[in-house]
Amino acid sequence: MAQLITVEEANLQQIDYHQRYCEELEKGNILFFPKCPFDFPQEELDFLLSQKQTGAANRKNIAYKPQSNKITNVVALSEEQRMKMLDIMQSYSRKTMDLLAHLLAPYADKWKLDYASFRPFQEKGRQLRTRARNDLLHVDSFPSRPVHGDRILRFFTNINPLEKRHWITSDPFETLAELFGGTNKLPFPQGVHETFSGRLIRALKKSAHKLGLPITLRSPYDSFMLNLHNFLKENEEFQEICSKDYWEFPPHSCWAVFTDQVSHAAISGQYALEQTVIIPRLSLIIPEAAPVSILEKITKSSMVDSLFLAH
Ligand SMILES: [Fe+2]
Repeated sequence: MAQLITVEEANLQQIDYHQRYCEELEKGNILFFPKCPFDFPQEELDFLLSQKQTGAANRKNIAYKPQSNKITNVVALSEEQRMKMLDIMQSYSRKTMDLLAHLLAPYADKWKLDYASFRPFQEKGRQLRTRARNDLLHVDSFPSRPVHGDRILRFFTNINPLEKRHWITSDPFETLAELFGGTNKLPFPQGVHETFSGRLIRALKKSAHKLGLPITLRSPYDSFMLNLHNFLKENEEFQEICSKDYWEFPPHSCWAVFTDQVSHAAISGQYALEQTVIIPRLSLIIPEAAPVSILEKITKSSMVDSLFLAH
């Protein structure tokens, strides 16, 4: 089960701590910052807290895509407000990445910057379809952005001035894979070298992808993680009886965690920001603790196809 590792302000600049913080994350622990470790202007906070995001058919979080400097899922904003939202998200993304580049230095030269998000909704009682619910325990997996064994690291900030953000965490990936993997509802995937038909299908998918067809090149690892995500959320018995730790993240605190490893749920709280970073498998301090390594150990097969990596 996850432990909370508090990052003291005095240790933010300590180079000796970098490796230790990476190790704690890879062991499935949560790095916790009692106070936001970078400047966040009140004017920006006021703007974010005034956002209601009402009227959208599916009420999605606002996403910021740093590579193209674009925001999506913004509703009911004037062009001026939209630009302001874009500026604030860009600034949050930059400050977060500056902090992590220093704090998690062993990862910084090879990581891949992913999306950031603004979460203006109250998580408690939020009406979403089962697989999209945040208040059910799950491990993260991106349906349209496969990671091929690399890791999903997320940094969160509770910008609500009054309300804590409440999380539950439960068993880590290894326990979940041992408990539920290989059952009818969650079969282990075949390794990439195991069958000729599997290799042929992946080669065809790769060709179709090259031709520009909208095909997601998912490795056996990605398929398993997506199935595990869905399986956990749809498993009422697991949600009810699994062992749980309860966490409170106070106003203006931040936390970072490998969300592909630590099963988690956000059960209440409103107004949070988040930045995702993809950490390559090759950069890990404890590669054997990565979900892909655990899955490969259990199945004695390779779960990542090099054909898909080179795109
Ligand atoms: Fe999640």
